[in-house]
Amino acid sequence: MPDRVVLRAPAKVNLALSVGPLRDDGFHELATVFCAVGLYDEVVLEPADELVVEVAGADAAAVPADASNLAARAVQLLAARTGRAPHVRVRLHKGIPVAGGCAGGSADAAAALVGADALWGTGLTGEEVSALAAELGSDVPFALQGGVALGTGRGERLEPVATLARFSVVLALAEGGLSTPAVYRELDRLREAGEAGRPTEVAPVLEALRDGDLPALAAGAANDLQAAAVSLRPDLADVLSAAPAALVSGSGPTVAFLVADDNAAQALAAELLDRALCRAAAVAPAPVGGVEVVG
Ligand code: C5P
Repeated sequence: MPDRVVLRAPAKVNLALSVGPLRDDGFHELATVFCAVGLYDEVVLEPADELVVEVAGADAAAVPADASNLAARAVQLLAARTGRAPHVRVRLHKGIPVAGGCAGGSADAAAALVGADALWGTGLTGEEVSALAAELGSDVPFALQGGVALGTGRGERLEPVATLARFSVVLALAEGGLSTPAVYRELDRLREAGEAGRPTEVAPVLEALRDGDLPALAAGAANDLQAAAVSLRPDLADVLSAAPAALVSGSGPTVAFLVADDNAAQALAAELLDRALCRAAAVAPAPVGGVEVVG
């Protein structure tokens, strides 16, 4: 068995996020098109005397460095299900914005599952690991898989979407984060007040991806949580109107711009910073693969 596993785990954006009714279990029924983007957290796992979490990177102070961290919960879950002690040191190097709607915590959890599985040689199947991922959070199974996928249920039921589309994503990182449950609650409130419409259609985005048609993808990309995120963070409206093909990523407050190529993406990132519309701007290729062991 290895004595150290190094992984990288990608951020995601939702190219389409259609939010249906609130279910009895507190989740909303979704249809969403996930896309993994090339902005990564690095996750290192090593055997230790107890479960330890260490966090580094720009946003590290905003991440819990204890057993409540989703990556630590991933290790605990795998340990409990395979009859082991969860004695692992998990080091997270954050490259993905924290509480930004890019599923950074889910990416870390997915990497921790794969890393601990490799460290311990549990012999679980990919399907079994994926089922554990779904217990940890709605976005964790997608982080394992990466690429582009249609997520249904609460987002955990995945169907890969084959696409030849290759593009760049500019992520405009906002000050502070947004709480995912708070954004979903705000959407429910807006809908009850008649201030937010019916669930968006994901079919145009799926069709654009299958055709590799970037203009159609940009035109069809839509996120039902956007109205709620903007309602809670009105400053996002200026960011969204800075360039075409902009949408809030997940529950926000990160805004994603879909751009044809890297040069145009770099230029847009510079412009967003110049105009002080975000605290940082990252350019990432899309789509990319899921969690990967890199050392
Ligand atoms: O599954 P995850 O822990 O990422 O979900 C965080 C919160 O987001 C949930 O507790 C719920 O409030 C909200 N959510 C939802 N419907 C979904 C996914 C998440 O309401 N499909």
